[in-house]
Order: sequence, then C-alpha cells, then structure tokens
Amino acid sequence: MLFSSRPGEEQNMNVTVPNNLDAFWMPFTANRQFKANPRLFVGARDMHYRTHDGRDVLDGTSGLWCCNAGHCRPKITEAVQRQVATLDFAPTFQMGHPLAFELASRVADLTPDGLDHIFFTNSGSESVETALKIALAYHQARGEGRRTRLIGRERGYHGVNFGGISVGGIVNNRRHFGALLTGVDHLPHTHLPENRMSRSQPEHGAHLAEDLERLIALHGAETIAAVIVEPLAGSTGVLIPPKGYLQRLREITAKHGILLIFDEVITGFGRLGTAFAAERYGVTPDMITMAKGLTNGVIPMGAVAASGAIHDAFMTGPEHMIELFHGYTYSGTPIAAAAGIATLDTYREEGLFDRAAELAPYWEDALHSLSDARHVIDIRNEGLVGGIELEPIDGQPTKRAFDAFLAAYEKGVLIRTTGDIIAMSPPLIVSREQIDELVGTVRDVLATLD
Ligand SMILES: Cc1ncc(COP(=O)(O)O)c(C=O)c1O
Repeated sequence: MLFSSRPGEEQNMNVTVPNNLDAFWMPFTANRQFKANPRLFVGARDMHYRTHDGRDVLDGTSGLWCCNAGHCRPKITEAVQRQVATLDFAPTFQMGHPLAFELASRVADLTPDGLDHIFFTNSGSESVETALKIALAYHQARGEGRRTRLIGRERGYHGVNFGGISVGGIVNNRRHFGALLTGVDHLPHTHLPENRMSRSQPEHGAHLAEDLERLIALHGAETIAAVIVEPLAGSTGVLIPPKGYLQRLREITAKHGILLIFDEVITGFGRLGTAFAAERYGVTPDMITMAKGLTNGVIPMGAVAASGAIHDAFMTGPEHMIELFHGYTYSGTPIAAAAGIATLDTYREEGLFDRAAELAPYWEDALHSLSDARHVIDIRNEGLVGGIELEPIDGQPTKRAFDAFLAAYEKGVLIRTTGDIIAMSPPLIVSREQIDELVGTVRDVLATLD
C-alpha cells in the first residue's frame, strides 16, 4: 500500500461519508456532475490522497498548486497543533505576536533583495487586492494621485475578487459580474502558435511587451499606477514567459514610473526551482503577491512583498496615525504564521527548491514524451509545472480534458484541467518513478478517449 502510516503513528481513517451533498455550493465546480458522482478525499500523506472508497490517488497538482512539500508533513502538523493550544488568535491591528514578525522576516529573506516589507492576507485573491490598493495609495502618498489606471493581461488569473477579475483576463471569470473596476486595460497574452512544443521559455514573443508602450501612448504614463502579470500564467493553462519578455516589461515600467507587480501565487515557493519566479527570470518587480505554498496549503494565508521605496512612502506624518487603512482580521494570525514558519523550515531542511530545479529536466523529458500521444497539440513546461494542450472536441470545448481528468482519477492520478489543457504541478518531493506514473497514466487515458 502506498499510503501508509508513518512508524509509531495510528492512522485515523474513520470515514464518514455524507448522505446529503446539497448544502455545499462548491467553488469552481460542475456541481450537478459532481454530486451525481462524488469524488471525496478523506486523508493525505506525502504524495498521495486517500479516497472515501479506500483508493490511493497520486497527487499531480499539489492539491491546488499549494502543497509544495507534500501532504501532512510532520513538522507543519506539529507546529499547527502546538500553536492552536498556545495562542489561538491575536489581533495584529495595533497589537502583535512574535510569530508574524518572524515569518515576515523569513519571507523577506526569500524574496529578491529590496522587497523586504511583508503584508499578510488570507489568500491569493486578497494578496492581489492588497497589492493593487497599495499601488494606488503609494502614488497618492507621493503626490501622483492621477495614477489610478491598472494594467493586467489577457488570460491572466488574479483570483476572484473585483480588483483581481478586473485586471484578470479570463472571460468566464469576468462576464457575469457587471462593469468591474473602471480604468483598467490589458496587455495581449503571450501564447503564440509558433512556440508550440517549446521546452522551458519559448523563443518568440518578447515584442508583446512593447504593447505597454502603446497603452502608455494611449492613456498617458501619468495616469497609470501599475502593471500586474503572473510571470508564468498557471490557471489559464501554463503559459511560459517568452525569452526577454519580462525584462522588457520591467524596463518599460521603470522608465515611466509605473509599478510592476508579479503575481506569484503559483510560482512562489520553489515551483520553478527557485524561491520565486522573479529569481528564476532575473527580473525584480516592485511587489510580489503570494499565498498557497506559503503555508503548504495547510492554513489559508497570503502575503504581499513590497519594496522599501513603496513602504517608506507611507511612513510619513504623525507617528500615532495609521499609515495604510487596509488589513484583514486574520492578517498574520498565529496559527497561519506557525504553519508558515514550519513550512519554510521544511522547504529549507529538505532542499526542496533545489530539488525542483534538479528534477526539472527529467520532468521536461517525461512531459515531452507525450508529444505523440493521442489528441495532444502542445506541451509546455517550466520547473515542476507542465501544461498539455489537447485538441478540443468539435462543438464541445473543455469536454475532452474534463473526461481525461475523470479517467485519470479513476486510474489513481489527480490532474487538473482548464479549458482543454491538462495542468500538472506535483509536490516538490515527487520521485522520478512517480513522474513516470503521472505521465504514463495521462498517456493511457488519452489513448482511450474519443
Ligand atoms: C496567480 C494567481 N493569483 C491569485 C490566485 C487566487 O488565489 P486564491 O484562490 O487563494 O484566492 C491564484 C489561484 O490559483 C493564482 O493562481
């Protein structure tokens, strides 16, 4: 059995399967399909989930891109258990507790030099809203209050709150929700057909960053507060930045006094073989948003790392005054902070970021071995992320990939799909054999699909 108790550990797998699934309105889920044929996880350990019907499922997605160190890791579990019995909650508005400061320093050690100020949130979506608000308030604090325009990118995913869906570029996440934020514009996405089957960064597309000059010419640089992009777009189907593209965005934003925000909710914490994508691509933005891997997904937590220049612009005026009117009840809450510290310890002690970098070539070869698999029209990879794009079924977009997801689950492998793209992002503890199993299962599944 793959999913085994650790030595000396009693495995508590008493499964209570609910007999009524109606009340839980599930997020980003085909609710009726799910409830007709539920897929429930009741336990997890390292690389595997355990299902309600007693099967082991290999996790090819780190849960939802969060569990970079694998599941139920003892150090993190123990830290949370200890913390919940020691200091359950403490306000961080006008009060503090040591762990929030410790975690902030630890995160600042991992972010690029100069991005040393950490604002805690509870999720990726909240990190995005926080970064956008800081950008607007920063310009106002410096007497450039006309800079209110925000620039996102087509196919960008920045969570589901109003700021995030406004700068985001995924039509289904936008079209049902009214006018969204005004004063938002979008860069073109970077997905070009000539880059098909590229390994790691594609050759073509750096010129797409020049579109920012067009938007600047259209709106006036003095009206633009910030540009936000995912350095590697995950949720929209694993789009890898073309060579030179991010560098060019950095040059143009710097030239015009526009802040550059990297949304690293997926790419943070080792996913690309470095702490952040900023390091991987050698481009330092003004702010980084993060979440997910910050606590290994164990307790919800996000954060924004901001530059000294941004932070210091707020530190003026009477000292008894609040400098930034923003924060969440749970910003830096003790249990999440404890989980975060134990998570960063686990990453460091096990050298997981380096491990991801070492495994990346094996991962790349394994993924690209699917280039002749049935229905596959493109394969993209970077670090321990992979995207496999399928030819859609005529008139039934997304169906083929969704069928692949269901069939893979039946065969004991968890993958994720978006549109007709399979996205994989296994925990950084994945073995070579498990990579083979993931990829082999995808091949088998595709062979059986219409
Ligand atoms: C790049 C990016 N930003 C923001 C988010 C939103 O994070 P959350 O679901 O924690 O709000 C995600 C989630 O996948 C993401 O990938």
